Amino acid sequence: MERLGFSVVWCGAILFTSSLLSGHTGVQAVFKMHKLCRFCDFRPSTCNATGICLSNCTINSICEVQDEVCVAAWHRENMTVETVCHDPSLPFHGVMLDDYNNTKCVMKQYKALDPHFYICSCTTDECNDELIFTPRDVIQAVPIVLIALLPVLVLAVLIISVLYIYRMRALHQLRAKHGHKGPAHSYSDTCTIIGRDDCGTTLTNSMNHNTELLPIDLEILVGKGRFAEVYRARLEQRPCATGRAPFQTVAVKIFPCEEYASWKTERSIFSDAELRHENVLHFLTAEERMVEGQYWLVTAYHARGNLQDYLRARLLSWEHLLQLGSSLARALAHLHADRTPCGRPKTAIVHRDLKSSNVLVKDDLTCCLCDFGLGLRLDSALSVDELANSGQVGTARYMAPEVLESRINLENIESFKQADVYSMALVLWEITSRCTAIGDVKEYEPPFGKLQENPCVESMKDSVIRDRERPDIPNSWCKHLGIKEVCMVITECWDQDPEARLTAHCVIERFNALQHVDLSPEQKIPSDTVGDEK
Ligand code: ADE
Repeated sequence: MERLGFSVVWCGAILFTSSLLSGHTGVQAVFKMHKLCRFCDFRPSTCNATGICLSNCTINSICEVQDEVCVAAWHRENMTVETVCHDPSLPFHGVMLDDYNNTKCVMKQYKALDPHFYICSCTTDECNDELIFTPRDVIQAVPIVLIALLPVLVLAVLIISVLYIYRMRALHQLRAKHGHKGPAHSYSDTCTIIGRDDCGTTLTNSMNHNTELLPIDLEILVGKGRFAEVYRARLEQRPCATGRAPFQTVAVKIFPCEEYASWKTERSIFSDAELRHENVLHFLTAEERMVEGQYWLVTAYHARGNLQDYLRARLLSWEHLLQLGSSLARALAHLHADRTPCGRPKTAIVHRDLKSSNVLVKDDLTCCLCDFGLGLRLDSALSVDELANSGQVGTARYMAPEVLESRINLENIESFKQADVYSMALVLWEITSRCTAIGDVKEYEPPFGKLQENPCVESMKDSVIRDRERPDIPNSWCKHLGIKEVCMVITECWDQDPEARLTAHCVIERFNALQHVDLSPEQKIPSDTVGDEK
């Protein structure tokens, strides 16, 4: 109290000088000012240590000593607040103040002194009137959280470092092995995408979800379709493979970004694992090549190319006809089936663009069905509207009459299969037309070959519906008993009435029966006259 009395008197003398000088910056810069602080010593307080508490002290004092700062102390148990001037070079209640350069009085807990004791110091006028409490939980929680998270952070950094080192070493070894100068793409997890099972067939995922793209080098263009181009390409094998060729030849079908829908349809058809069949193109993976603005489908590569080009260049033996015809029927029957050969349920699929250029010839001289860009999964959930919206699709030359007329029976999903069977009949006719067993074999011609190169729907309607035309089957062909039976199969498959057509499954059986037909020796054509380029 003695000090308070002195201060009030002193105040009278100095306050005048102070108020004259305050606001006069030039003078302030020259003379260091005595601070003006709240100075009530101890007062009762209602502060609850949250937000800002007011000191409730109405007495101001110009500090006696020039270096003194404003100080406030709050005691939780006593519920008192103390406001004073204090020289920070001296201890205050036994502690050295370290926040006296602050402009505001931010309360600090001095636990070592007394856990209920908070002190703040500051340098601006009356700054110890407002006692600022920062959220205690935050202040206390930060170090606790940091300490708790430290092992997790250290572990994460360790794992990332180990993975990074492992990957860099694998890449390094790979480059050393292949003398690779630095690929545009690296191996990533090729093995998990394309591996081989015990039978040597390639196992696949439907989509390459790795951020890194497969290490594929495109070689030559081998096909050009409506939606995409097909390239022969080299897929580098992953380094872990021992005794395996350093690359695998694959086909890459490249869709420009405008044909995204086609890529998506074909990918969705291929991604059904139950589609796998020896006569259906083997799918490896799909990739979104964002940098090039392209969508890729990576599949098996068949060096003999498509059936149309193959037939254009070669004559076939009777045995070869049987092999091609029956394998094509097996491929279509598998596509249409709603069960796998093992009896597992499978979604039936229709191709809707079956033609000789969408069939590849495998090395074992069997057919391989490809190009599922117009395929449709006959999901039981598909509504009639959805089927109707799928529209009139395909290639006019190979379209069944009911498709040409857009009169397909949407109530019955079998109708879509019947339309595929019609198209298959035309392909079987093309195969037969190039078989030496028919006698005099002409140059290759597509079905309805006299029509222009890409006949439109209207001219096909004139031929197929109005004139009920079908490709010619001369009587001379039927001198060969086997060919005669094949021609009967073809005729039953292109019937005007979709319901009257054979199923693909029946066609297999008819071909199977033909394997056992004992042809007379004169009907057998010596095999060394066929199979060569014409
Ligand atoms: N043309 C289209 N697809 C092909 C493939 N997978 N192999 C060879 N030629 C093709």
